[in-house]
Amino acid sequence: MRHLLSTRDLSRDEAIHVLDVAENMADVATREVKKLPTLRGRTVVNLFFEDSTRTRISFEAAAKRLSADVINFSAKGSSVSKGESLKDTAQTLEAMGADGVVLRHPASGAPHVLAESGWIDAAIVNAGDGTHEHPTQALLDAFTIRRRLHGGTQRSSDGAAAHGTARGRDLDGVSVVIVGDILHSRVARSNVWLLTTLGAAVTLVAPPTLVPIGIDTWPVDVCFSLDEAIDTVRPDVVMMLRIQAERMSAAFFPNTREYGRVWGLDDARTARLAPDSMVMHPGPMNRGLEISAAAADSARSTVLEQVANGVSVRMAVLYLLLAGQGEGL
Ligand code: NCD
Repeated sequence: MRHLLSTRDLSRDEAIHVLDVAENMADVATREVKKLPTLRGRTVVNLFFEDSTRTRISFEAAAKRLSADVINFSAKGSSVSKGESLKDTAQTLEAMGADGVVLRHPASGAPHVLAESGWIDAAIVNAGDGTHEHPTQALLDAFTIRRRLHGGTQRSSDGAAAHGTARGRDLDGVSVVIVGDILHSRVARSNVWLLTTLGAAVTLVAPPTLVPIGIDTWPVDVCFSLDEAIDTVRPDVVMMLRIQAERMSAAFFPNTREYGRVWGLDDARTARLAPDSMVMHPGPMNRGLEISAAAADSARSTVLEQVANGVSVRMAVLYLLLAGQGEGL
């Protein structure tokens, strides 16, 4: 594959290969000099038409650790706000010699349009398109689950690397509950496809108003009660989603207090989770709404691991798409 547009079209072997390459990249992060010369002379453009903090800086750190030149292009304050089209922007980047374009866009499908347009020759990485997909987020989530379950690379005091057993593994038999605003969540969609491809069992939990139409065709179970899901599924992983207020044109639940009371991961629910289960959140978190501060900061929480792992996974993706002749995914 020349682009990374979605996790839906990744095979199990392709996904495991990306995660294994990310393990190698995570090893680099433990070195004193966290840099590889692999993408020297290549240019990666971060093209962001939507606000983002962690995803943009994560891609920037990943590209820089591979020695690529990085251009950050955010639509605000650029000619896009003067009405320049995606086509003109793409052709400008092509003329500047961009080898990879990391695109975040409020319109679902924008990265596909760019990849198929012929306007630009670069490899396209989807960094979140509307409510559609966010493939690198799902890959970093899968990587985080796999590492917590099977260990990554441990380094002994003499610096020798002892590899854990994570490499080559899928997520067979792992139960994952994804909770919250499924309707507007590209993180949920990318995770549903990727985690089930890797063998995990996924249960979606949401108020009925935040469950997408057509969910019966997804490879998941659906439950409307978080309490019931915690007690019956006994999940290994609880992934909380942010309420996407910016994508809501109507009232999908009575008020935030009511939402938190029924669908939030509060302290009492956290205490009922199995001791070695994980609590995940892609960030940014609404503490006190979908997740309590204690749950977010507990030993179960993988929130900061997700951020660190995001850089390794994005390094792997950029490496596979851009190094050498572009091995592809
Ligand atoms: C997610 C996104 O932008 O889709 N965040 C992220 O990439 N760090 C999730 C969210 O905004 O809720």
